[in-house]
Amino acid sequence: MHRRYWLALIVVLGATVLYRNRLRAYLKQTSANVRAFDLPTAGMYDTLVGTVLEGFYARVASDVAAAYPRRTLLEIGSGPGRLAVRLGRDVPNLAVIGVDISDAMVERATRRAAGAGLLERVRFEVGDVGVLPFADGGFDGVVSTLSLHHWPDPVKGLAEIHRVLKPGGEARIYDLAHWLWPPAQGDDRLAHIAAASPFGGGNVEVVPWPGAVPAFVLLRLRRTREAPS
Ligand SMILES: C[S@@+](CC[C@H](N)C(=O)[O-])C[C@H]1O[C@@H](n2cnc3c(N)ncnc32)[C@H](O)[C@@H]1O
Repeated sequence: MHRRYWLALIVVLGATVLYRNRLRAYLKQTSANVRAFDLPTAGMYDTLVGTVLEGFYARVASDVAAAYPRRTLLEIGSGPGRLAVRLGRDVPNLAVIGVDISDAMVERATRRAAGAGLLERVRFEVGDVGVLPFADGGFDGVVSTLSLHHWPDPVKGLAEIHRVLKPGGEARIYDLAHWLWPPAQGDDRLAHIAAASPFGGGNVEVVPWPGAVPAFVLLRLRRTREAPS
């Protein structure tokens, strides 16, 4: 082989040995990101959804704004914070906390809220839906978009959502319809997941949403009020 190729090979091997820990950490982070949101970096995700999903967020925001004016809302899997910041801008008395398993997403969302001057009412923290870092019954409502299909144990996630909702509070989980997420199986599976959670069968509604392109479904889950003793 030509001397130049040998040199190049030695440089590549040397760099791999020198930076192997960084390379390992990078690959580990990339595969965690793909598991959590299908793309290698939070920046790529933000750019993609910024171009294709703004209409979706606008529609969810007007739905949610009508349901929870002047309230405390928890967003699960808040990603780059586009929905939470839109809600903070549109609904002056709403306080939103976004929780996301990815610290890069939380950083990005926090920057977006800071840029919009909303940090007093819209903030984000790192957390897993399976072990939410919040006390029982602290939220009037919970919203989540396109995150449930990434949760390793959706029933456990819904149990945590049930725990942090106030009695009478409602969760709105927008996710992919079954033809985009085959495990949803005709969307019945979503109803089964919800029925297996503490929300139970009676307080669960699966609504095809929105009508024109049946790409999404809305899971509406209500935590019942305890009967007075
Ligand atoms: C496809 S993105 C959706 C982001 C945003 N809600 C949106 O609609 O653009 C899924 C989000 O869920 C988060 N996520 C995945 N698993 C999670 C978990 N177990 N707990 C909390 N967040 C999670 C990911 O980090 C990611 O930001």
